[in-house]
Amino acid sequence: PLVTSKEMLLEAQKGGYAVGAFNVENMEMVLAVIAAAEEAKAPVMLQTTPSTVKYASLDMYVAMVKARAAKATVPVCIHLDHGTDFELAAAAIEAGYTSVMIDGSHDSFEDNISKTKAVVDEAQAKGIPVEAELGKVGGKEDDLVSEGNANTDPQEAKEFVERTGVDSLAIGIGTAHGFYVGEPVLDKELVSKVKEVVSIPLVLHGASGLSDSDVSECVRRGMCKVNFATELRVAYTDAMKKLAKEAPDTFDPKKYGTVSMEAVKELVKNRMNVCGCVGKA
Ligand code: 13P
Ligand code: ZN
Ligand code: NA
Repeated sequence: PLVTSKEMLLEAQKGGYAVGAFNVENMEMVLAVIAAAEEAKAPVMLQTTPSTVKYASLDMYVAMVKARAAKATVPVCIHLDHGTDFELAAAAIEAGYTSVMIDGSHDSFEDNISKTKAVVDEAQAKGIPVEAELGKVGGKEDDLVSEGNANTDPQEAKEFVERTGVDSLAIGIGTAHGFYVGEPVLDKELVSKVKEVVSIPLVLHGASGLSDSDVSECVRRGMCKVNFATELRVAYTDAMKKLAKEAPDTFDPKKYGTVSMEAVKELVKNRMNVCGCVGKA
């Protein structure tokens, strides 16, 4: 069934595991991620960035996820990833998204608070949980290679959560969107430090390119949601390219979709395993 992220993330927090949140861009990715969740018996979040929303519309992603989630045996959530402003977050909720992020991480501390608070007031009145971000995850959500980040200050995180009433918080610990140029430098102890002073579920962005052991240590220290985007896009398109190379006469889009879905499904199941959410639904 389609559910909000509220219970899902609180359960994960209680159980000491993380829910995998996977960025999807088309029907095949929606089907592959939910199929993986069913095979893994895991709760799952599917999410779309603003540029993805622009590609096919909020309504289209809601319709696809809703249709598939209605037949799913595991809890499924559709989340707006990196919501840029109040209007987009409100439109996502109106369209049927069951979770939203408002990303004010590029604003000043005070502007981030007021931006987040406005979305929290709107969303909570409609029963929809909100994720915010404090500190910076490097790179750009839709770029392949990343740069620039800022680690979160635990005391600021505590104040931010108290003043906004937000449901979950993405923090900067050195991760970045896209793959890493060289070894990522992570402050994993910072996860524990923030967890000590912040009671809501913490969120790890930029997980593509992180080793299994880095992800699992972050989860062990308190990350309750882990975001994967670039890896899925690469798995998806690599499978298509491989088929095009091996059988260049292939013209049925379903043939490309089938190999791509299989590749994404396997990747998602592996990452769910690392997050510890397998068997939790
Ligand atoms: P990656 O592309 O590095 O997996 O980042 C995902 C993410 O944080 C989406 O919000
Ligand atoms: Zn992100
Ligand atoms: Na990354």
